[in-house]
Amino acid sequence: MTGRPLEGRVIALCVAGGIAAYKAPIVARQLLALGARVLPVMTRSAQRFVGAVTLSGLCGEPVRDDMWDPSFAGELHVALASQADCVAVVPTTADLLARLAEGRADDLVTALCLVARGPIVIAPAMHPRMWAHPAVRRNVATIEGDARARIVGPVFGAVASGEEGVGRMSEPEDVVAAIVAALSPRRDLEGRHVVVSAGPTVEDLDPVRFLGNRSSGKMGFAVAAAASARGARVTLVTGPVVLSTPSGCTRVDVRGALDMQTALDEALDDAGDALVMAAAVADHRPAEYSSAKTKKVEGDTLTLTLVKNPDLLAAIGARRAGKRHPVLVGFAVETNDLEAYARKKRAQKQVDFVVANLAAHGFGGDDDHVLFVDDGPARAVQGSKRAIADAVLDEVVARLA
Ligand code: CTP
Repeated sequence: MTGRPLEGRVIALCVAGGIAAYKAPIVARQLLALGARVLPVMTRSAQRFVGAVTLSGLCGEPVRDDMWDPSFAGELHVALASQADCVAVVPTTADLLARLAEGRADDLVTALCLVARGPIVIAPAMHPRMWAHPAVRRNVATIEGDARARIVGPVFGAVASGEEGVGRMSEPEDVVAAIVAALSPRRDLEGRHVVVSAGPTVEDLDPVRFLGNRSSGKMGFAVAAAASARGARVTLVTGPVVLSTPSGCTRVDVRGALDMQTALDEALDDAGDALVMAAAVADHRPAEYSSAKTKKVEGDTLTLTLVKNPDLLAAIGARRAGKRHPVLVGFAVETNDLEAYARKKRAQKQVDFVVANLAAHGFGGDDDHVLFVDDGPARAVQGSKRAIADAVLDEVVARLA
């Protein structure tokens, strides 16, 4: 990175106790070179890994590590937050991620993150098995729901133990790039209304049973969070999922495909500029709904009769035919022949582009690799669902221009 894009900016650089803490002084140095003033903050355990003197010497600022610092008159976390344009947590350990996800304020770093005014850049680093643990996945998902938080990395590579996997902290220049980006956020969807569908639809058989699918809703929620962060008014129409609503989004909860159709039509009628159709809409629903719980059959088999649901996206595509707006983005999950099926769906549904992925990759995870299919050559995109969401929105913005 060249120039001094951080001139006049103040970054509170929080360092937590992990081996990757040795990279924090490099991050500090690069931030200083870009013109920032850097306020170093350390957890107590960080000081087992990197010396406070190193950071204070580099930054020319005292290292803060104690909420109750007797040498400071006033509330230290509030004072730091009012100075800092951005808080960066480098590295973020599994423990600190958990405390941030819970909204705790049990040390200076967590209290500062809670009271911070601007973006919070989080650079996790931990053993790959920790990063993959369901508890850490839950905490990451919670933090991703906070539009102020930007998680950068971790990346695949060797970790301290010598093992390889996803858990290694992003390189200092990537962390610095994320800080620069966080301080110059794209507001390229300001004034736009983006409608996003997410999650599965569930088709009720009776009051206790339904037909569903394995969609987690994470991709649609990531698109909604990213669109909101980029300034859009967002309506998020979602089937049943266990995800918290990204900040700033209006959420409409639905169950079946027909409910989703009604909700989407209403949302798009309200000046919809784009529809990102990430929901896994059931193609069929039971022909009959029983208002009483159905009892098990006497014989060994039960035959259900299903009727076809409308294709929500195709109907919207047909209505739009000949016009450029709203921009329509479809998704496709396939087990084989990914690109060919995606091209077929794009044509059938009359949408701008299709984001296609293999069933084996996407379900439930936080990362994905997908294929963007429009009328040109297909483009592979890989990364966190949030990064893929931003890439989807880049395409939407280009088509809105
Ligand atoms: N879709 C929709 N209404 C449906 C089925 C799908 O709007 N009844 C949308 C999905 O939200 C997605 C795209 O169409 O954006 C493709 O969904 P997918 O299930 O992959 O394709 P289908 O058209 O259902 O085809 P198939 O299941 O046969 O692959």
